[in-house]
Amino acid sequence: MSRSMPSVAPSILAADFARLGEDVARVSLAGADYIHIDIMDGVFVPNITMGPSTVSSIREYSKLPFIAHLMITHPERHIKAFADSGSDIIEVHIEAEQDLVKTLRSIRDHGKKAALAVNPPTAIENAFPYLREIDLLLIMSVNPGFGGQSFIESSLPKIGIAKKEMERQGSSVPVEIDGGINGKTGELAALAGADILAAGSYVFKADDMPAAIRTLRACGSSKH
Ligand code: DX5
Ligand code: ZN
Repeated sequence: MSRSMPSVAPSILAADFARLGEDVARVSLAGADYIHIDIMDGVFVPNITMGPSTVSSIREYSKLPFIAHLMITHPERHIKAFADSGSDIIEVHIEAEQDLVKTLRSIRDHGKKAALAVNPPTAIENAFPYLREIDLLLIMSVNPGFGGQSFIESSLPKIGIAKKEMERQGSSVPVEIDGGINGKTGELAALAGADILAAGSYVFKADDMPAAIRTLRACGSSKH
């Protein structure tokens, strides 16, 4: 069965932070569909990355939609800052301490797309009550905090389960998968129904960045 090709969202966590603007421009020219920006606070996850001022600084280097993946506690305190920074899609974690419905509505009230992220140990069913509040669902295929980790295969069935529930509820939002994505795991994810592949190391460490992006976009389109 043929299905539409997945979109590609390179994660700049694997970029050169001393040349972040140039790397954002380079990956955009290489054929990316989105720029995936990992925001970590050292509390929700053990690592610290960047904040809204960095997002504002790189905004002018690309016309692509920016996805701000907020791996932070109390994301509701920072929605305005990330909206003002030029993020187009704001992803918050179901596991983060917050009033989730309020946070998701605040993202939409700021004119941005709201997304819900689900960690590997969290049952996907926990996201079902929020499907109407979101514009995108992010299924994590690593435990968040660091790039370059191995893909957790048990995340795959969550994609189909979520899509089936969306159908049942009469809603349909794209599913992004994030963590350990390469040509091989991207294929598995695309065949499982993923619409957007987020990939850090595979894209930024590639010798040929446009080829790496083309490989990801072709995932799931081979005949089986
Ligand atoms: C993990 C981040 C991912 C990560 C992906 O906490 O949310 O977006 O950067 O990196 P790779 O593709 O190297 O696993
Ligand atoms: Zn991410």
